[in-house]
Amino acid sequence: MSKTILVTGGAGYVGSHACKALAAAGYSPVSFDNLSNGHEWAVKWGPLVVGDVLNLVDLDAAFKTHKPVAVMHFAALIEVGESVKHPGDFYRTNVTGALNVLEAMGRAGVRDMVFSSTCAVHGDVGDALITETSPIAPISPYAKTKAVVEGMLADFSVAHGLNAAALRYFNASGADPDGELGEAHDPESHLIPIACHAALGQRAGMSIYGDDYATPDGTCVRDYIHVSDLANAHVKALGRLLAGQAEGQSGVEAFCLGGGVGSSVRQVLDTVKRVSGVDFTVQMQARRPGDAPMLVADVSKARTVLDWTLNHSDLDTIVKTAWNWHKSQVKR
Ligand code: UFG
Repeated sequence: MSKTILVTGGAGYVGSHACKALAAAGYSPVSFDNLSNGHEWAVKWGPLVVGDVLNLVDLDAAFKTHKPVAVMHFAALIEVGESVKHPGDFYRTNVTGALNVLEAMGRAGVRDMVFSSTCAVHGDVGDALITETSPIAPISPYAKTKAVVEGMLADFSVAHGLNAAALRYFNASGADPDGELGEAHDPESHLIPIACHAALGQRAGMSIYGDDYATPDGTCVRDYIHVSDLANAHVKALGRLLAGQAEGQSGVEAFCLGGGVGSSVRQVLDTVKRVSGVDFTVQMQARRPGDAPMLVADVSKARTVLDWTLNHSDLDTIVKTAWNWHKSQVKR
């Protein structure tokens, strides 16, 4: 019988792609989502439990009914700018929510968790590649909540034998190559979806936030990773946890998940223009507060330890899949 995995935030962008990857690998994903940011249409590979990580009754009931062997924990608030304005909401959902999930796991006797973390726990490292051992120095409240949860995982591991993988994402992007899923945030703040909306005429152009950085073309450099490659890394990390191979004193392993290549904002926008065939208007604006000039991953640990390969993370494929998805949504 296939193993059930409880996927909190399974109706969201990365969570839904992870459910697809889990099903393809022979697992049975159960999505647990309050649908505040997730979408019912994105839950296609197993049941949806509408519940909230802040509600212990919802959580205990999901464990009791579905008897998962492990948890993938995605449910969280993600907008960095919003976290500066409303830190309380972020600490409540991201930290208390994770604590509730961990305690519900304990009551249900579940020991394995794949946790959705962020490279932003490292803050601004200058122009060095980020590795798992780069200092933890989060800047935004959002990143601080993720760093707190990583610390909590380590403590639960020592005290209660938790086995966890903390996956530090770089810029999750693109859409399911089969066109079954994609990115749909409201409001949207991410570069590639905004550029696709501009190319579709759904907004009057867009802005580049700063062209005076000390980078090759003056715009910020980011490491874009295709969401399907990211989803596969979750399945690999889960397999490693379930096989009991996780090592290290704390029982928590961190992995940097990026494509390992930096792309500037200008390069991304040029690619969207080329792929869409639309020369939308781009204006220059002041820097966005909190943006680091360059965030690029060294992905050698994930490649070797997880035996993970990147199949879709070149910028063209990322932009093509994103563009196809956004076009398909117009006809919906
Ligand atoms: N940008 C623009 N114009 C826009 C939108 C974005 O120039 O309209 C720029 C940003 O200033 C940044 C780059 O495009 O330099 C990427 O911005 P995104 O908002 O797409 O992504 P971020 O790198 O800011 O954030 C993402 C995730 C966060 C995570 C972070 C870690 O959304 O959750 O990566 O690097 F914390």
